[in-house]
Amino acid sequence: MKLSENKSLKTYNTFGIAVNASRFMLAETFFDLQTIIKNKKNLFILGGGSNMLLTKDVEQTVLHIATKGIKIINEDEDFAYVEVAAGEVWHEFVLWTIDHDFGGIENLALIPGSVGACPIQNIGAYGVEVKDTIATVKTLNIETGEEAIFDNAACQFGYRDSIFKNDLKGKVIITAVIFKLTKKKHQLKTAYGAIANELRIKAIDEPTIRDVAQAVIAIRSAKLPDPKEIGNSGSFFKNPVVDKVLFETLINDFTDMPHYVLEENKIKIPAAWLIESCGFKGQKYKDGTGVHHKQALVLINYDNATGEAILALANKIQAAVKEKFDIALQIEVNIF
Ligand code: EPU
Repeated sequence: MKLSENKSLKTYNTFGIAVNASRFMLAETFFDLQTIIKNKKNLFILGGGSNMLLTKDVEQTVLHIATKGIKIINEDEDFAYVEVAAGEVWHEFVLWTIDHDFGGIENLALIPGSVGACPIQNIGAYGVEVKDTIATVKTLNIETGEEAIFDNAACQFGYRDSIFKNDLKGKVIITAVIFKLTKKKHQLKTAYGAIANELRIKAIDEPTIRDVAQAVIAIRSAKLPDPKEIGNSGSFFKNPVVDKVLFETLINDFTDMPHYVLEENKIKIPAAWLIESCGFKGQKYKDGTGVHHKQALVLINYDNATGEAILALANKIQAAVKEKFDIALQIEVNIF
């Protein structure tokens, strides 16, 4: 366990926002986590800092979870159950599964963040959501210090959503995630346009999970900014779902509007298209903020922007989308 005071959080959040924490504790073991929880109230939990916009200094004690460990806890002919400590880097774990030929999360390569954060917003990309491979989630209750295990159903997963973002927000710490991964008969998801295209270009007819991961890495690297180079938090907004009545009015006026019918009365519209249509894509502003030139859903800290400036830009985008399309965009990242 390490304790520091007045620490800059700039390198602990992928937006690269330079706010300070009055106290900062690093937990490297499960025992560290237990001890810190027992002795401290009012903690600010920080994992990989990849889905968070910090708009002010943090007066609470920041607990940075840096626990490590990946182990196979059970396996049979078809499946491997792998327990991963919350502080492991998500992408490194994905690469570990590829090296072991364990299938299920290859489409989720290169998503920034930690393993402990992945269930909170049920990370997803290219037709796969992490909920499809999560067996259980291990937690510690912040108030009582009690351990609890949530099975998949208890996590109440939804699109970029779970119980950890709702009823249990600020109440538990995720300490480990147990994944159920395929050892054979991998269920490859390659139908998503960009993946299919990438495999076609490489003339791969019968892809392995490594081929799929490599395709995803190529697509993401070409389209999404690397947070190590340019501060960002991936998709800033959720893709909105509208009802049929609104959809029909919109498609009348905007005949080229992309959309996916989820069920009879629910239609998903890409937020990126709405934002681009309002003219924000590729913009760079004097306050250091901007909107990525290849994916309008990604807000950027180009040059020492403050969290407040990024939030102000987000609000401006929400107002423009509301005005033009009568759709209220919901922010996906956590704002502090
Ligand atoms: N589009 C535009 N302008 C753009 C980008 C996209 O009009 O600048 C339109 C296009 O019609 C495109 C459609 O939006 O076909 C969908 O774009 P894309 O495939 O890039 O996916 P997305 O819906 O914008 C979601 C996730 C991403 C994930 C991709 C790929 C959300 C909020 N975002 O984006 O997740 O990588 O699908 O599966 O669901 C993240 O959450 O941080 C993230 C990057």
